[in-house]
Amino acid sequence: MTTTLEGRDLLTLGELTPDELRLILDPARTQKNAWLAGERSRSAEGTAVAIVLHKPSLRTRMSFEVGCARLGAHPVVMSGPDGAFSRNETVYDTAKVMERYVDAVVIRTFAQSLIEEFAEACSVPVVNALTDDFHPCQVLADLLTVEEHLGQLKDVTFAYVGDGNNMAHSYLLGGALAGMNVRLGCPVGFEPKEEVLEHARGIAAATGATIHVSNDPREAVEGAHVVATDTWASMGQEEEHGARLSAFEGFTVDSALMGLAEPGARFMHCLPAHRGEEVTDEVIDAAYSIVFDEAENRLHAQKALLSLVLGCTG
Ligand code: CP
Ligand code: NVA
Repeated sequence: MTTTLEGRDLLTLGELTPDELRLILDPARTQKNAWLAGERSRSAEGTAVAIVLHKPSLRTRMSFEVGCARLGAHPVVMSGPDGAFSRNETVYDTAKVMERYVDAVVIRTFAQSLIEEFAEACSVPVVNALTDDFHPCQVLADLLTVEEHLGQLKDVTFAYVGDGNNMAHSYLLGGALAGMNVRLGCPVGFEPKEEVLEHARGIAAATGATIHVSNDPREAVEGAHVVATDTWASMGQEEEHGARLSAFEGFTVDSALMGLAEPGARFMHCLPAHRGEEVTDEVIDAAYSIVFDEAENRLHAQKALLSLVLGCTG
């Protein structure tokens, strides 16, 4: 059984074993409780972490930057056109330079291939803070949140309604690792990528998780313990927004849809939400909505992840 994640990358979530997932979630919970109880541990004092952002961010930037500060690590945030990968510098050269300065690199970018290429070249841990294909840090936070609210992950029925996007992919992999029943309801033509589904099914075969994808939001939500959704047009797809509004008709998470879920079911959204599109005000503002716990847990999950990959778990 693995006992350390020192030096490891987190690029999809699918590279973890179920034990390694626990290696992140367990300290995330205990360190969160310790923090709330007033304990302060700057276990990563003296380290530096680069945070490269090629897309906008509120939660990711703040949670990584504050997380670094709480660990005693120095965050170096590079966003916009003046940041890393400007002036046609190659991915390889950028990685070889950055590894000389920092102890870990967090990247939010477009192509998954860029972060894979970067991680291949880079000798320090690389963490995916969202690409077009995956958002593993969000799903670590979401799993922590589900476990806090429901007391378990295994056998929880987790429904995701909407676009078969980066969040859907990461829910598939994370849910499979955690032994959940993952049900996706996506419009025709907006299903998750087949290779991600195959990967998730392979993990599920070993963990006892189940994976079900349909084009019917009601089928996904019926009897679910958690219902999640995400924007219909992700960053980089802004020009498709109008066309997607029609394609996603019937996929809004409203009170009627939530009514099909298990009594007491929770609502989740990684945020930012587009109220009136993928979710109604009534649902996102309901007592059963745990979207802000989810946002807070980005900080706790990522703090635990960073201390592990930096090898600073003390
Ligand atoms: N959920 C999330 O990743 O939010 P940001 O895009 O604001 O970082
Ligand atoms: N699918 C969304 C997630 C935002 C956190 C996007 O990629 O824009």
